[in-house]
Amino acid sequence: QDNVRNKIIEAHELAVKFYHYILNNTRQGDEAKRYLIERGLTDKLIDQFMIGYAPGDWDVLTRFLMNREFDPKLLEKGGLISAKNEAEGYFDRFRNRIMFPIWDKNGKAIAFGGRIIGEGQPKYLNSPETMLFTKSKMLYNLNFARPAIKKAKQIVLFEGYMDVIKAWSADVQNGVATLGTALTEEHCMLLKRHGDEIIICYDGDSAGQAAAYKAIPMLERVGLKVLVALLPKGMDPDEYIKSHGTDAFRYEVIEQAVSITKFKLIYSRKNHILSREEDRNQYIVEAVKIVAELDSSTEREIHLKELAKEFDISLDALKQDCHEFRLQQQ
Ligand code: CTP
Ligand code: MN
Ligand code: MN
Ligand code: MN
Ligand code: MN
Repeated sequence: QDNVRNKIIEAHELAVKFYHYILNNTRQGDEAKRYLIERGLTDKLIDQFMIGYAPGDWDVLTRFLMNREFDPKLLEKGGLISAKNEAEGYFDRFRNRIMFPIWDKNGKAIAFGGRIIGEGQPKYLNSPETMLFTKSKMLYNLNFARPAIKKAKQIVLFEGYMDVIKAWSADVQNGVATLGTALTEEHCMLLKRHGDEIIICYDGDSAGQAAAYKAIPMLERVGLKVLVALLPKGMDPDEYIKSHGTDAFRYEVIEQAVSITKFKLIYSRKNHILSREEDRNQYIVEAVKIVAELDSSTEREIHLKELAKEFDISLDALKQDCHEFRLQQQ
């Protein structure tokens, strides 16, 4: 069993180099390379993350690895190739895709994420679940991020490959990503094992914001201190860096990450139209409920004062409601 695992890792290590070589050194890789550069990646980043290209042929990787005495059954088990349905033989799982190697926490290549060049579906194709790769437990980039996480005791949580890689170029090297799959309990426990504090930096679209909202109690449950980085509407970290630059990302997004109370207040606010009386009143009640979740009475008072001032309500009335919500929440 250990032998099978080692062989699958060895095949992945070779595949990483193979795809990377094709991207950088062949005509077939030109379009993919141009696409990556256009998206703001540099040669240095492409090398660091060993990004590659799987050409359109049906079986380049299959032949490359079989010529090196790899058993196709083992390669199939590892998720690199598939058996043909009708005929004898095998074909590559990834074709015509930009390849992001996925390493385990010790830096062993165990899977890939493959992106289509430009538009198309599915945008990303990942390796299937294998004996080495379980998506619900995988945090992309944990291998490279470990030293920075250890130093800062802090982790930045992203949605995807490009966010992690672009953030790296902004000197945010403690970033990891769940790969499209929702955050799981296993992810949370793994995160807690490596850090004390986490900054959620999901996409600024409604899906990303809803996912952040859902992730908060899960991360808190394992004992992590949670902050949320705010992005302009509809932008993801990778797009933000492209249009605002790396410094803005680091100093204005990551370093300005807000407390979960702030985040929930902003989120609730966005769901109400404050110029309408009915909506405004609803927002105020919701805001007090959010503040009521805070354990520190000082912090509660700070937020309640702001609300009192903004909406011209007496602090006493807000405090009274807050107190009642606290009794209900217990
Ligand atoms: N994802 C996936 N399969 C898909 C779509 C997304 O596995 N069909 C995963 C990928 O890991 C992706 C992440 O979910 O990086 C976040 O998805 P999304 O925000 O849609 O993609 P981006 O990371 O923004 O991709 P890109 O910048 O390349 O467009
Ligand atoms: Mn290289
Ligand atoms: Mn997204
Ligand atoms: Mn995105
Ligand atoms: Mn993106």
